[in-house]
Amino acid sequence: MRTAASSPEIRIDSYLSELDERSLAYDVLDGLTRPFKEIPPKHFYDARGSELFERICELPEYYPTRTERSILDASAREIVRVTGAGELVELGSGSAEKARILLEAMSSAGTLRRYVPLDVSESALEEAAILLVEEFAELTVHGVIGDFERHLDRVPRAIAGTPRIIALLGGTIGNFPPGTRRRMLREISRLLGPEDRLLLGTDLVKDPRVLEAAYDDAQGVTAEFNRNVLRVINRELDADFSPDAFEHIAFYDRAHEWVEMRLRACRPCTVLVSGLGLRVEFAAGEELRTEISAKFTRARVQEDFLAAGLELECWYTDSDGLFAVSLGRRL
Ligand code: SAH
Ligand code: AVI
Repeated sequence: MRTAASSPEIRIDSYLSELDERSLAYDVLDGLTRPFKEIPPKHFYDARGSELFERICELPEYYPTRTERSILDASAREIVRVTGAGELVELGSGSAEKARILLEAMSSAGTLRRYVPLDVSESALEEAAILLVEEFAELTVHGVIGDFERHLDRVPRAIAGTPRIIALLGGTIGNFPPGTRRRMLREISRLLGPEDRLLLGTDLVKDPRVLEAAYDDAQGVTAEFNRNVLRVINRELDADFSPDAFEHIAFYDRAHEWVEMRLRACRPCTVLVSGLGLRVEFAAGEELRTEISAKFTRARVQEDFLAAGLELECWYTDSDGLFAVSLGRRL
């Protein structure tokens, strides 16, 4: 563990190290040598990828961010009343824009103690921590720079007598394949004490045209975000991808009820990943899957909760039924 920051209000522990370059190395070695090539989406988020994601959140086509924010604006006080929470643990916290709404409600209720963001993006986490302690005088931040698939055990212990909310917002749960998704929920549920709650944001099944536009915006920001994974591999593993030789693809898979993002080679190409001594061939038109983004129904959330030993306690949605925020507790 490396201490990335330490002051009376902010402590940030980093668990990302060379080991994590090996995680990218492993994912590239594993994912680019299969007949159907695939890289997991967590590698989008270097500093540039996090900035591009922030721009996506502002796009007219990308409704999830503003919709989830409106749901939280409407329900944060009730969530804090129901839970009595004074601590927010947020997995995949990003810019912490939505955390602010919940922290504000805790502050108004007089319960606010601590915010624990966990993210792979060091830059996003540090910036968010500094802004939040300026905003809330009673707040301490204990950040964890890490991978929520490997470092959940690094989340600090709860403060005795302070119920906490563990949040996974933005629809990030949809970025896991179904089996991993249930495993993640089970692991998160193990962090919950009897008074604690899970707060889960899920994008909902809807008209495929709305979904496809959200992942293929007119300004091409999502396309750049998608190609950013190739820049990350070039930098971290000394590879020679030409990002412009790959076309951004986004489509709704009706059978699986998820959006897929892929990168399609515009022409045949050979990529050298020098850091791994690996040569990868792409045929013209060959595709590399970079993300799935599953869409949910209330029934699917309920089934996933049950499979993870959780009870769906409250379901908050917007008037158009675009997005939902669920509150759950251990069964
Ligand atoms: N919760 C925010 C951000 C969502 S974007 C919102 O709702 O807007 C997804 C976030 O999860 C990014 O900040 C990204 O850096 C982080 N992330 C992605 N994969 C991760 C992983 N495996 N471990 C930890 N953080 C991850
Ligand atoms: C972070 N995650 C929930 C986003 C999503 O919608 O699946 C990532 C994203 N990919 C393309 N646009 C946004």
